[in-house]
Parts: sequence; C-alpha cells; structure tokens
Amino acid sequence: MPVIIDCDPGQDDAVNLLLAMASPELDIVGITTVAGNVPLELTQRNARLMCDLAGRRDIPVMAGCDQPLHRPLITAEKVHGTTGIDGIEVRDPQHPLDERHAVEFMVDTLRAAEQPVTLVPTGPLTNVAAAIGRAPDILDNVERIVMMGGAMREGGNHSPSAEFNILVDPESADIVLRCGRPIVAMGLDVTHQVLASRPRIERIRANDNPVADAVCGMLGFFHRFDSAKYGSDGSPLHDPCTVAWLLDPELFTGKTCNVSVETESALTLGHTAVDFWHVTDRPPNVEWIYEVDADAFYELLTERLGRYPLQ
Ligand code: RIB
Ligand code: CA
Repeated sequence: MPVIIDCDPGQDDAVNLLLAMASPELDIVGITTVAGNVPLELTQRNARLMCDLAGRRDIPVMAGCDQPLHRPLITAEKVHGTTGIDGIEVRDPQHPLDERHAVEFMVDTLRAAEQPVTLVPTGPLTNVAAAIGRAPDILDNVERIVMMGGAMREGGNHSPSAEFNILVDPESADIVLRCGRPIVAMGLDVTHQVLASRPRIERIRANDNPVADAVCGMLGFFHRFDSAKYGSDGSPLHDPCTVAWLLDPELFTGKTCNVSVETESALTLGHTAVDFWHVTDRPPNVEWIYEVDADAFYELLTERLGRYPLQ
C-alpha cells in the first residue's frame, strides 16, 4: 500500500513514523513535513532524524508549508519541548532533506502514481490543502486520507473546543474535509483511549533496541505534560492511531457521518462539528473513529518496534 505521511514531529508523529517504517505492508513513498508542534525547520529535521534511527535512507523527506494558509502559526513547545522531540538526544541528521517542496512532491507523485496513494496527515492540514488547491486533479489518485485531527466528546485540547491540528489551520481542514475522497479521522475521542502508561512503556523498553529506547525516552517526556493536565497515567499517543488503523482496522470502531469545521468564530475556531446522530442534512464525509482496543494497539506497536534494527 503506497502512502505519503505528512507530519509535524512531535513525539507522537515520530513514533508513528517509526511504526510505519517497521511495517512492510506500507510502501512509504515519501515523508512530508509541515509547521505545527514546532516550526518547520525543526519538524523536517525531526522527521529526518527518525529516518536515521530507523535506518530507512530510501525514504525521501520533504519540507512543506511553514505557516497555515491564512493565519499566523501556533506551536506547542509546552507539550513537545523546544526541539519538538524532547526526551532523546537531538543532533543534526545524516538523512538528507529532499530539495522538492512537500506540496510539489505531493502533486507530482499523485499525478504520476500507478495506483492510488493513501495520505496520512498527522499535523495541520496545510500541505494537503495546498496540494489540492494547486492541483485538484490529484484527488483522482488519492485512495483515502487517514488523518489525526478533530474532537467530538473530548471537546478540545489546545482550546476548550478545538483539537490542535485543526485549530492551527482550520481553513485547510475545511478544504480537506470537503475534498470528496474517503476520509478516516482519528480525533481526541479515540486517541485519548491509547494512553502511554508506564507498564506499556516498560513493555516497549523490553524490546531492548535503540529505536525502542528512543521511543521510551520521547514518551517519558511527552508523559509529563498530559499527565499533569489530565491526571492520567500516560499521554495519549495520538498520531500512531493512523498507521495502526492502516495495519489493523479491526482494532478500531467508527461511524460514517458529517464532520464540518468552524472557520469564523474566535470563540470556537477549529471546532469539528461531528454529526454523529445525523441530525442535519450535511452529507457524510468522514469515517469518524471513536473506539479502539487499546491493549491490542500497544501490542501491535510494541511488536513492530521489536523488529528494529531492520534487516
Ligand atoms: O492534538 C494532537 C495532535 O496535535 C497530534 O498530531 C500532535 O502531534 C499535534 O500535532
Ligand atoms: Ca502531529
């Protein structure tokens, strides 16, 4: 299955990349990066560092949009630290930065694709929306979009009524949600069920390889903010829900419904209105995921991280 992963590493994006790079079911055509958790020059560096860690020199990494389509950038260093992947040693990556812009890469790759490609955005949707805006014809070659973003019962995390990825660039989210291609959305309702508790981190550590150790270091840092905020044992491992769904969709439960985004109100900007009970005549556009077998999710993640170093 050919995929393009678009991300803003961020510890959870980083773990998602490592999960994907250990999974032969996925043909990772490229990793594109976007400004989000931290500025673009850090998200692209962090993605390249994950490719170093995974030993995947075959995967091109591109930098994309350094700010939302129509708004100033909001970042989340308070959650992820100043590097974006605090919890591990951060150095200059060996993995090169491909000189193509992420949006150019998406357009050219999708136009040339011999089979439809799955897009896996786990940050603000700026790159994806910009590619659709520049070349709407690429949608013919998008198999589906499996994204992390939005919230229904969980309200919001970066504001009382909006999830971070959507809040950073609501106009881009609106473009993507209206694009007409199949969308699977992992919002906070499901990602808050996959908490990286200490026992789960220790099971990952028991793999006893440098990648698993790095994941434990990042999750250890990631843990402190959300645990203080929610009083939970562990942070929600948001982004790896996307790749886990690709690898084993049976772990998840969803419902097809309309998801629309607020792009005007200052109070509720970025809010995702999930019409779960079909009370409007808005057309269903998203498979809204709301439940997961969390233990099985961590068994899958732990087993895949145990495959490092890759042969
Ligand atoms: O709200 C959680 C999302 O915002 C995750 O993708 C995290 O990495 C940040 O991008
Ligand atoms: Ca992310």
